Amino acid sequence: MNLSLSNIEHLLTTSDPTAIDGLFAEACRVRDEVYGRKVFMRGLIEITNHCKNNCLYCGIRREVSTQRYRLTKEQILDCCRIGNQLGFRTFVLQGGEDGWFTDDVMCDIVKTIKKEFPHCAVTLSLGERGKASFQRLFDAGADRYLLRHETADAAHYAYLHPNEMSFEHRMQCLRDLREIGFQVGAGFMVGSPGQTLETLIKDLQFIQDFRPEMVGIGPFIPAAGTPFESRQAGSVELTLRLLAIIRILHPRVLLPATTALGTLHPNGRERAVMAGANVVMPNLSPQDTRALYSIYNNKLSTGSEAAESAADIRLRMKAIGMETPVDRGDFAY
Ligand code: 5AD
Repeated sequence: MNLSLSNIEHLLTTSDPTAIDGLFAEACRVRDEVYGRKVFMRGLIEITNHCKNNCLYCGIRREVSTQRYRLTKEQILDCCRIGNQLGFRTFVLQGGEDGWFTDDVMCDIVKTIKKEFPHCAVTLSLGERGKASFQRLFDAGADRYLLRHETADAAHYAYLHPNEMSFEHRMQCLRDLREIGFQVGAGFMVGSPGQTLETLIKDLQFIQDFRPEMVGIGPFIPAAGTPFESRQAGSVELTLRLLAIIRILHPRVLLPATTALGTLHPNGRERAVMAGANVVMPNLSPQDTRALYSIYNNKLSTGSEAAESAADIRLRMKAIGMETPVDRGDFAY
């Protein structure tokens, strides 16, 4: 399929359903050629909602008044034990930038998980850290690191973040992670305030150049108590088109059908898989902390989003002709 710049712009803006169906079909064909008809499952463990940052879009930013929590090492291990039983072979430890989780604390947690579950991959998603810190986490056994770039346009980045954060440092972190040897995840929100066709094209260009092993994209959803609480949510439709385009530009990418899509549309994750996605990340966090990890309004954490409903997700994927193997789901190098 011709994915020249002008054709990408056309695909992002057209209302011609035949063109869009063709795009989704091509994305699925490309995915199936690399990975087969498989959707990899990851167990998401939200370890802390404390955050020192103040990103304008985020519902757990420093200045939002909300009940804060952190999981203990034992709680995190219990989540892994449940996840392992359910057939998850990747645990994603995600949290705000919380100084309580020092390198010593995180390395101990990672080592303990890898010792008890040597057959499982550990993915970390803990925001920006220094290169030495990333190296220690890698040496402790972490396999992957997710750090969405949020936008590949420096001015747009500055609009979404307070002055104390920098686009350059974000990008430096991604390069450091790559150099250290992590499978690296980047990504962005679709429909974030200030986003334009031009910034989106820059995101696609960045993905094509950097070729992250994972790309997480989901619609922006306004979060109560944030400066962007009254802004419009991003479009599910545009998110699906972007997923398909990313799959075609970077055939081997691991592409999650994100919770944000499932939150905005009851069949959002199925539609994402039918647009070329091949990863789902149900929530493995303890029941009583899930509602507190409210990065945006009405975030799904129950029903088929909950890991207990792994069986339900498997059925939903089966219904659209996809297997959900018990597998780490590594990047196909
Ligand atoms: N809507 C959608 N996604 C959000 N994120 C943070 N806040 C929101 C929001 N309001 C995304 C960011 C972040 C990831 C963990 O969640 O892209 O990197």
